[in-house]
Amino acid sequence: MTDRLSRIPRSIMAALLLPAAALALAATQKAPPPPWWSPGEGRTFPAQIDYRNDSGTLRSLLVGGPLPTKGHPFFEPIGSNGRACVTCHQPADGMSLSAATAAERWDVTKGKDPLFAAIDGSNCPILPQGDRASHSLLIERGLFRIQRPWPVKEWQGKPVTPDFTIDVVRDPNGCNSAPGYGPAAGNISIYRRPRPVSNFKYLLAVGFAYDPKQGIALPRDPDGHGQSSGNLMADNRAANLRLQMEDAAASHLQLIGKLTPKQEAAINDFEMRLYTAQQASALGGALDSAGASGGPAKLRDSEPGALGSIGTPVWSEYAAWEKIPPEEAAKLTSEQLAFRKSVARGARVFRDKTFLITDSSGINSPAGFGNPVRNSCVFCHNMSQMGNDVAPGQVDLGTTTLPFADPWADLPLFRITCLKAPHPFYGRTFFTYDPGFALSTGRCADVGKITLQSLRGLAARAPYFSNGLAKNLRGIVDYYERRYNIGYTEQEKQDLVNLMSVL
Ligand code: HEC
Ligand code: HEC
Repeated sequence: MTDRLSRIPRSIMAALLLPAAALALAATQKAPPPPWWSPGEGRTFPAQIDYRNDSGTLRSLLVGGPLPTKGHPFFEPIGSNGRACVTCHQPADGMSLSAATAAERWDVTKGKDPLFAAIDGSNCPILPQGDRASHSLLIERGLFRIQRPWPVKEWQGKPVTPDFTIDVVRDPNGCNSAPGYGPAAGNISIYRRPRPVSNFKYLLAVGFAYDPKQGIALPRDPDGHGQSSGNLMADNRAANLRLQMEDAAASHLQLIGKLTPKQEAAINDFEMRLYTAQQASALGGALDSAGASGGPAKLRDSEPGALGSIGTPVWSEYAAWEKIPPEEAAKLTSEQLAFRKSVARGARVFRDKTFLITDSSGINSPAGFGNPVRNSCVFCHNMSQMGNDVAPGQVDLGTTTLPFADPWADLPLFRITCLKAPHPFYGRTFFTYDPGFALSTGRCADVGKITLQSLRGLAARAPYFSNGLAKNLRGIVDYYERRYNIGYTEQEKQDLVNLMSVL
């Protein structure tokens, strides 16, 4: 062996040794921090941070960063259960939390991570907390328990008399019927995905002077910032980020007492400075190359723009990939080129391929877009750069309500009975897993309506929809296909999946 090595010319020997030397040097330097952010670690949040996922690389940009997180209330365990906001809003998961990450945390910590706190990180606090099965909704579907008052209280705490009744038809976990739990005890438990904490410039933008989905005036922001965008939380129970963080601190963090104004300002500041999007694709390469402008920089530098026809068309950052000039194409592999063309087509499908939107409250009623209305994905997802809805208001896509939702055995099921007029599409009596917006308004017509969320960083945060109905990106397309009988070709479905993988 030595003999053979000695015959290798010195220059080559040096070259061979170099990687080893570099490795040794790297070993003396610090290993990159793990993707999981534990509360109170005191890491610095850099101005730019990248994380790998199955579709490529996700990037977050923190304007004015880096931010030392020591003492910062988003990152410190300020409540009584050892969690921080970052526990459920992880940078590697697009500032949400994927079910896969929850499962990994269970395995790594044997269920000891504060993520699994009984209050809402288990299917119900009455279950044996050491059992993995008691946390199945979080581990398998990324869902947290949300407890809401029943009868309904609106966001200012004012009691509302609902025009519907709720009966618990099935309660697999006990949190809607055990002592202290359920409508009879003054509350109702539903299960939801964490919504991503980033890109709020867009989510808080007010695109309309009124709520076009209901034809009524928008609620005022209680802190005097004019109108509320109406785009926060699945059921819109928080009118602004302050009310949202107070709700989160009291419930998820089990904070005794209140956030101080200084803590609220620090959380708000962090939330408003953060931009997150997929930056590179495993199949297509850099998302901001060959004329495209994917990635969070464009989000940071743009202003919220409305409706494809009058503002910048949604996902137009990939328009340049419709026709990649030969000299650019020559630099790509054929797979990269094919993927990029597919993404550009996907953006077209999203905007241009129309179908009949039927029986979706908020769109088909009551404001009068008609039922059915022929339009595309962009009719509901129209904010340039973001794909949330410029027009405030909630929509019933059917994700939480039968017959469109899956027949899940592991979620509580409620029977809704409308007391005044029947629900316009579901009738007098129907079944839901989550009444959604109706838990904030008390109106039967609002049962099943959910606030549209950001469509950014999807690749990092499966499963999708408020209750994790879609396991992966293909599951989203399959749901829409089933819901509206769209008739997408196999190619169009794949194009949409590829588009969503680069947002
Ligand atoms: C135990 C997990 C958990 C923790 C801890 C947590 N959140 Fe959340 N967060 C959620 C869930 C679940 C939702 C969605 C709730 C819903 O739609 O009803 C959410 C939603 C949000 C939203 C709304 C985003 C949108 O687009 O609607 C914001 C903002 C937010 N959280 C901020 C925070 C802050 C700030 C903290 C710390 C004070 C925090 N969260 C702690 C799980 C968590
Ligand atoms: C009738 C209005 C409407 C139309 C049309 C529509 N969506 Fe949605 N979309 C919604 C609503 C409402 C939600 C939230 C539902 C939920 O979370 O349960 C949603 C959620 C989503 C999400 C989930 C994001 C997440 O963070 O989990 C994606 C992705 C999405 N839509 C893509 C599409 C695509 C692709 C199309 C076209 C095939 C489309 N949407 C058409 C109303 C619509």
